[in-house]
Amino acid sequence: MASVLRRLKGRDFLTLLDFTPLEFKALIVRSREHKWGLARGNPLKGKYVAGIFEKPSTRTRVSMSVATFDLGGVFLELPTSSLQVSRGETLRDTAQVLSRFVNAIAARVKSHSTLEELAKWADVPVINMLSDRFHPLQALTDVFTMMEFFGERKLKVVFLGDGAANTNHSLMIASALVGYDYVVGAPQEYWPDGDIVSKVEEIMEETGGTLRIVEDPVGAVEGADVIYTDTWFSMGVEDIERRKEVFPPYQVNSKLLSHAAPHVKVMHCQPWFLGQEITEEVAYGPHSIAFEQAENRLHTAKAVLEALLI
Ligand code: CP
Ligand code: NVA
Repeated sequence: MASVLRRLKGRDFLTLLDFTPLEFKALIVRSREHKWGLARGNPLKGKYVAGIFEKPSTRTRVSMSVATFDLGGVFLELPTSSLQVSRGETLRDTAQVLSRFVNAIAARVKSHSTLEELAKWADVPVINMLSDRFHPLQALTDVFTMMEFFGERKLKVVFLGDGAANTNHSLMIASALVGYDYVVGAPQEYWPDGDIVSKVEEIMEETGGTLRIVEDPVGAVEGADVIYTDTWFSMGVEDIERRKEVFPPYQVNSKLLSHAAPHVKVMHCQPWFLGQEITEEVAYGPHSIAFEQAENRLHTAKAVLEALLI
C-alpha cells in the first residue's frame, strides 16, 4: 500500500473520481494507521498548507488544521474576505503566488470551478474542502467509518434527502470505489447529477457495486446497513420553499429506521438540523455513529495531506 500512496504525491484532491479503487483503499489503510497511532514522526515538518474558506466550516477547518499541525506542518487560515481575491485579484494570480509560499492549497468554495481554476494554475496540490458538487474528504471518512463498524464486507448504503448534494455525490463515488450497493432515496428533481451517475456506474462495473435511485424512502431503506442523510439546505442553495415542500418524507426518524436492518447505523456529515432531515431521537440514539464519523475526519485528513505532500 505504501507504493500505491507514493503515486498520490503532488496530485490534486478535487474529486474521488480522480482516484482508483486501489488508491482509495490505500488512503483508508493509512487513515487507520494514523488512528491507531502506528504512523509516527513529523512528515510535514517545514510544510505549509493554505486553507482558503469561502464558506463556514467547523469539522473540516479544525480537522485539516489539527492534522497539519500534528504532522509537524503549519496550516494558514485564509478566509477569502481577508485575501485580495475579495477585491478582484484573479484565482490565477492567487494560485501562482500561494504556490511560491506554501506546499498545498486547501479550499472550501462556492463553485467547484473555483477549485479547478486554482488547480490549473497552482504548482502545488489543491485539496477540495467542500464545493457545491463534491465533498471528497467527507466521503473518504464516511467509508473509513463504515469499515470500522462493519469490516470489509459489502454493505447496503442508503442516502436519503438531497441526492444532488455534494455529500451524496462524493459518497456515491466512494461507495463505487469499494463496491457497495448504494441507494439514493430522493425526490426526482433532486436526483444526483447525470454525469456523476454515469461515472459511478462505470466504476461499479469494475468493483461490483450497484446503484439504484428511487423516490420511495421506505422502499429505499429496506435492509439497509447504513442510512446516511445531510441537510436539505446546503450552503448556497436558493430554492428553500420548494425544498421545504418535497423533503419531509425523507426525514430519518425511528419509524423509518424500523424498515432497515436491525443493526443499521445512521450517519450524517453534520452539521445537522434536528427535526428536519433527522430527528433528535435518531441523531443521539443508539444507531447513530455521527460523532465517531466526525472524529475520523482528523485521521483521514492526515492520510490525505501526507500522501499528497510527501
Ligand atoms: N462535515 C463538514 O464538512 O462539516 P463542517 O462544515 O463543519 O466542516
Ligand atoms: N451539504 C452540506 C454539507 C455541509 C458539511 C453543505 O454543502 O452545506
